[in-house]
Amino acid sequence: MYRIAPSILSADFARLGEEVRAVIDAGADWIHFDVMDNHYVPNLTFGPMVCRALKPHVGDTPIDVHLMVEPVDEMITAFADAGADIITFHPEASRHVDRSLSLIRERGIKAGLVLNPATPVYLLENVLDKIDVILLMSVNPGFGGQKFIPSVLNKVRQCKFLCDMYAEESGRRIMIEVDGGVNAENIGDIAVLGADTFVAGSAVFGQKDYAAAIAALRAQLPQE
Ligand code: DX5
Ligand code: ZN
Repeated sequence: MYRIAPSILSADFARLGEEVRAVIDAGADWIHFDVMDNHYVPNLTFGPMVCRALKPHVGDTPIDVHLMVEPVDEMITAFADAGADIITFHPEASRHVDRSLSLIRERGIKAGLVLNPATPVYLLENVLDKIDVILLMSVNPGFGGQKFIPSVLNKVRQCKFLCDMYAEESGRRIMIEVDGGVNAENIGDIAVLGADTFVAGSAVFGQKDYAAAIAALRAQLPQE
């Protein structure tokens, strides 16, 4: 029921294939892939070519592409071609959110919206049927290693309420993923409120032993 998604933003970029294999061997459920364009966010990372290069290294483990780019539609197509399994984007970065979500789903890829700490949950209400995952930012996007913003806990609760209502009427469960400053001290509290998927950059790649780091995060989750 719970997923740990290590963010390769905190990995050694000179050895990415090796890093990805190591973290999957250590128990990662998804590989979180942070795409930054120095326009939507003040940082620059990697694009579809790197995703394509990593694909043979991940086996069956889903690649969770978090687009911090503006505009988004062209990158959706490029990442769909590059082997993304999940694509999420920020609604502020797309002029036509419904169309961008449809673009993702037409390719048979799981789609999601990312809410910044100040972005309200109600933005999701009219597109729930096109969403597989809600990604709640618990830091301002752009950098790894920042401190968890506690007001996001209330948004986790709000999203859980919304997703429960939606599941009742549709029979479909939307995942709730939290990204930024997640560690072994706070993951338990976040999970209790309803999140099921946890991005962890520095809490995994900042440690020597990835298996121990992932186990330490999992140990704090409510019993499945
Ligand atoms: C921030 C990224 C996060 C980041 C998380 O813009 O979206 O995925 O890498 O890193 P930590 O876990 O170190 O906050
Ligand atoms: Zn991310």
